[in-house]
Amino acid sequence: MEIKSFAKGGSMLLGVVGNPLAHSISPQLHNTLSDILGKDCVYVPLRMDEDDFDDGIRGIKALGFKGFNVTIPYKNKILKHMDVISQEASLIGAVNTVKIKDGLLYGHNTDVRGFYDSFTRETGVDFNKKQVVILGGGGAARAVALAVVRGGPSRMYLVNRTIKKAEAIGDIIKKYSPHTEITCHGAIDFNFGRADILINTTSVGMYPDTGAIPFGQEMEFSPSMVVYDLIYNPPETGLLKKASHWGAKTVNGLGMLIYQGIRAYEIWMDMKVEDDVSKAVLDGFRKYL
Ligand code: ATR
Repeated sequence: MEIKSFAKGGSMLLGVVGNPLAHSISPQLHNTLSDILGKDCVYVPLRMDEDDFDDGIRGIKALGFKGFNVTIPYKNKILKHMDVISQEASLIGAVNTVKIKDGLLYGHNTDVRGFYDSFTRETGVDFNKKQVVILGGGGAARAVALAVVRGGPSRMYLVNRTIKKAEAIGDIIKKYSPHTEITCHGAIDFNFGRADILINTTSVGMYPDTGAIPFGQEMEFSPSMVVYDLIYNPPETGLLKKASHWGAKTVNGLGMLIYQGIRAYEIWMDMKVEDDVSKAVLDGFRKYL
């Protein structure tokens, strides 16, 4: 019998903290990366109940983990455990990646870079001088808005059912980039058919309610538009189907999930994952999921 060595006594430890975790693909993503890159490292799910959260985080540190990801519902709650917080994580108010070094916890938010890398690499389009519409006002919208504003758009439209949340994001982005033109809307009450890029960060259209389209069926697109939906289950949402029907370029959010994970891996390992490796991993997951 061949003895396989997935983990050894001295293997580096990584993991993901959240609840639930049964559907998380992060363990597969990071263990695949370690396998490809020849790193002696194991990444495990660390499901925690709310009451055990603080003890759990102290336990991870005590056990010598090199770092961990944080997902729903703890991306905000983890902030109080951080010794150092990156500018992105602090602007967004959420940490999804923690690096542990010399006994200190460093909080990062790799969703910003993950979205930016996925969008620009998969569409071949950047945000420079573009008119960009962002649908949604949650944590994902904050990360996307920050990624977009760094790309130098000519104008951002923040659209959310609860307009106050869109305005709160507008305020954060204004602080970061005072000269960006931003308008906030509670509904699609303007002709965004002239926009260059539309990004959906709402949960509308996600499995099992796959027929739903954010802000109704009235939207019109143009063939020159790029439409990105953060949802990847189903792989083609009602929004993407409709945009594609109009001839727009469409991309789903699997790439963001993969690229934010790869960025986290780079932070933990102090290394650059080459573009061809990232692309091969993304292609692999597109076929697998
Ligand atoms: P995330 O952290 O992934 O952004 P979230 O904070 O739960 O998740 O945000 C979900 C987003 O989807 C919100 O912007 C929410 O709108 P509200 O801020 O008005 O709640 C949006 N959303 C959810 N269901 C919606 C619906 N039926 N119509 C329009 N927007 C919806």
